[in-house]
Amino acid sequence: MTLAAQLHDLAVDIAREAGELARRRRTEGVAIAATKSALADIVTEADREVEQLIRDRLRRERPGEGFLGEESGAEPISHGGDSDVTWVIDPIDGTVNYAYGIPSYAVSVAAVAGGSDPEHWDALAGAVFNPASGELFHATRDEGAWLHDDRLTVTAEPAAAGALLATGFGYDPSTHASDLARVGRAMTIARDIRRIGAASLDLAFVAAGRLDGYFERGLQPWDFAAGALLVTEAGGRFARVEMPDAAARPLTVAAGPGVFERLLSLTTD
Ligand code: IPD
Repeated sequence: MTLAAQLHDLAVDIAREAGELARRRRTEGVAIAATKSALADIVTEADREVEQLIRDRLRRERPGEGFLGEESGAEPISHGGDSDVTWVIDPIDGTVNYAYGIPSYAVSVAAVAGGSDPEHWDALAGAVFNPASGELFHATRDEGAWLHDDRLTVTAEPAAAGALLATGFGYDPSTHASDLARVGRAMTIARDIRRIGAASLDLAFVAAGRLDGYFERGLQPWDFAAGALLVTEAGGRFARVEMPDAAARPLTVAAGPGVFERLLSLTTD
């Protein structure tokens, strides 16, 4: 078994176990633990507990590898290891949906080689599990992307009515006006637009051909690590583009080949 295949199987298993914990905690009621970058940017007790479960499991099964998690940041899983593998984890992507009871949230687990900087890493394996729907999206480098046992392929060309697109908005209110202007430009090629509220699911849906394209400024590495691999393994294209405003984090664009260049040029204008 290749290293990527081993990492894939573990990513899938962890995403399922962690997702089950998140789902169970949701039925017991959600407690907001803190706000982060902005009042709208929340972390629940469940985010922390789920991330801890994932860390504990990796500490047992993959000691010596790196860890980059939304709630605990970057650090080795245990000290003294020299592995090139880093686990990039969003314990609950779509935390606001989770808090409001909207069944669009996911555990995102990726294993990458080359360190914790997305500009330099190579994703080897990824899993995105939505415990509310039971859907498990997973991919292995050079082996394809899958929803359960079904192989995923992005849309080649949008339908004549235009592309079905999705986007998202960061938590920083000062970027909303420019984000909305970007949506306005993208609408010129769209039949309609979705705001699903979990970047990992947006990317999984591009991979599955449920969306023709997705763009969002300001994603964090754990939001897209697994989803980007799903898109590229499903035959799609994924890019992160630095924005002229130095304070703004890069723009992420993912789409099938038929719409990618047009979406990129409209959203980076
Ligand atoms: C957020 C979701 C959301 C996106 C935000 C992300 P979180 O992740 O993916 O869709 O618009 O930019 O931060 O905070 O729920 O893990």
